[in-house]
Amino acid sequence: LRDRQPIIAIDGPAGAGKSTVARQVAAKLGLVYLDTGAMYRAITWLILQEGIALDDECAIAELANRCVIELAPSQDLQSPVQVSINGRDVTQAIRSLEVTSQVSTVAAQTAVRQALVKQQQNWGKKGGLVAEGRDIGTHVFPDAEVKIFLTASVQERARRRLKDFKKQGQSTVSVEQLEKDIAERDRKDSTRKVSPLKKAPDAIEVNTDGLSVNEVTEKIVGYYQQRLSRD
Ligand code: DC
Repeated sequence: LRDRQPIIAIDGPAGAGKSTVARQVAAKLGLVYLDTGAMYRAITWLILQEGIALDDECAIAELANRCVIELAPSQDLQSPVQVSINGRDVTQAIRSLEVTSQVSTVAAQTAVRQALVKQQQNWGKKGGLVAEGRDIGTHVFPDAEVKIFLTASVQERARRRLKDFKKQGQSTVSVEQLEKDIAERDRKDSTRKVSPLKKAPDAIEVNTDGLSVNEVTEKIVGYYQQRLSRD
């Protein structure tokens, strides 16, 4: 007998399509979607807002331990989760280029990770979620029933990001610049000392190049159903 509902962990590099897919899988299976990247982004936003230096690990640790982050499910499948930090709605602000370019530095700090992982594990106690991030299958929920490692080529990921930016009305960025940013973020996320981005040994790797969101969603739902029918 389980003491909690199942958990699906979806990890992978920036822009592999994790958010869209995780949201859709959660909706399809009636599970809660947990976007852990949004939490690292919210803290980064607050640090920038308060003018704290990104290398002031002490001040950042204090902030991470006392800030209150809330995530509310989005209104529809297309929109991201609604995020607030210390009562301020930062849903849009955390997607800015500025936050995006600084978040890796913040996410590499041990105290920040400890504070956020603790909160994620608290939320996940009862299970019943699709958690998405970089260290979910390896560190946050190592006992997740289904672990997916979602990948895509740098070129494909840059093209998808460009589409997102255009949708938001930001069209000043080039695909070359995005490719560079993505490669740099991959490098930082996979070489950092604390919980680097790494495929868990028991994760299933899914490359999303050329696949539609629906196709990827169906694959993951299939793995989930297979896994549950084994118990
Ligand atoms: O998935 P995203 O782009 O919203 O993530 C933002 C940043 O946060 C990314 O640079 C990696 C980091 N992150 C992390 O270190 N661990 C997680 N579980 C989720 C995100």
